[in-house]
Amino acid sequence: MRNDILYTPAHMITYEIRAIVEIADKLRKLGITTHMENIGDPIARGERLPVWLKSIVADLAQDDKSYGYSPTRGMLETREFLARLTNEKGGVQISPDDILFFNGLGDAIQKIYGLLRPKVRVIISSPAYTTHSAAESSHAEQPPLTYALDPSYGWLPDMDRVRAMVENDSRISGLLVINPDNPTGMVWPEALLREAVEIAREHDLFLIADEVYQSIVYNGMETQPLCRVIGDVPGISMRGISKEVPWPGSRCGWLEIYNADKDPAFARYAHGLLQAKMQEVCSTTLPQLSIPRILSHPEYEAWLQERNARYEKRANVAYERLEEVRGLRVVRTNGAFYMSVVFEEGALNESQKLHVDSPEARRLVESALDQPNVSLDKRFVYYLLAATGVCLVPLSSFSTPHQGFRMTLLQQDDDVFEQTIESIAKATTEFLSS
Ligand SMILES: Cc1ncc(COP(=O)(O)O)c(C=O)c1O
Repeated sequence: MRNDILYTPAHMITYEIRAIVEIADKLRKLGITTHMENIGDPIARGERLPVWLKSIVADLAQDDKSYGYSPTRGMLETREFLARLTNEKGGVQISPDDILFFNGLGDAIQKIYGLLRPKVRVIISSPAYTTHSAAESSHAEQPPLTYALDPSYGWLPDMDRVRAMVENDSRISGLLVINPDNPTGMVWPEALLREAVEIAREHDLFLIADEVYQSIVYNGMETQPLCRVIGDVPGISMRGISKEVPWPGSRCGWLEIYNADKDPAFARYAHGLLQAKMQEVCSTTLPQLSIPRILSHPEYEAWLQERNARYEKRANVAYERLEEVRGLRVVRTNGAFYMSVVFEEGALNESQKLHVDSPEARRLVESALDQPNVSLDKRFVYYLLAATGVCLVPLSSFSTPHQGFRMTLLQQDDDVFEQTIESIAKATTEFLSS
């Protein structure tokens, strides 16, 4: 090549959630059974969709209309349906034109940060869902700007510190809330969400609420959607069907834009999002057509509750067992389908290991770890994979100083899940005392 063409900013982040999969693939070839608790795809983890749901999609597949482009904003009948659902919640009122469809929220995330002026920053909760933090950091060509979720305080943020950050950094123009949160499974209490709105109001910011897990809550928790608490502050709610239906392969998510009429700069930005989408023509048509039919199906609510009950059970089994393990700090998950577990300060060191039966597996993992600046939690996660087949994600890969791991609660089989938790618990004790 005449020039070095790959843009590699210093902050470019390896996507650990997927990077570890390569190692797992190699271990499987060595005959090791793996339990892939690393990725938030319910379908890949064996969740079966009900027949009524698949019939909706099958019927749509018979309709030629499903194969065409959709309007840039998305199918009008679907946007009308979604606007009505939001308006029925009784908060901010929107019209179908305030909704904009994307090819999954991954696509929306790229546009949201990509359209911001480089000097403008959005603060992101940490541990941070990597797609948000990487996109924000790429747009700014700076490391992500984060506010801490505190594992000693149920993974909740200290809103006084958030306020102080905003006061001291005039570049900050937006605040991101992920509710329920990935990777921690924390559900934002209404009072804290209202404080986030107040901070945005006081300092003229816009809010982004990633609400892709909005209906996935349990342990008696409720989520307050942004639309109910935002009042007249400019904001964006991010919604999708990847997790709730669940249909991650649909690549279908949407933005609801709140209060664009209240601020000219925000209105220009919202218009920019629409124009950016126009360059691409539109988003996936068939999944959009399915949304009103799936979400209003008489069995949809029961289906959601059945899934939530399963995640609740998993969350509590994991919490009860891992909480007993010395050296771990565990918070009960109340939403989404992840749990983030932290090693106590000073519990990890560079000489810890796990016994790995297979010499090839040990060599594979040790050579993968033989690099400069490997984080201590990555060492744990890689050894765990080789020794037990359980695949987690190091917590430090989510832009946080905490060392730990994130696991999913998606395993379908009760016994396999309990064995997985038991393997993690025993391996942790062995690793920390090695
Ligand atoms: C918080 C959050 N937002 C967005 C996404 C991406 O969703 P989509 O499948 O719509 O791209 C995910 C996927 O894991 C997520 O956890």
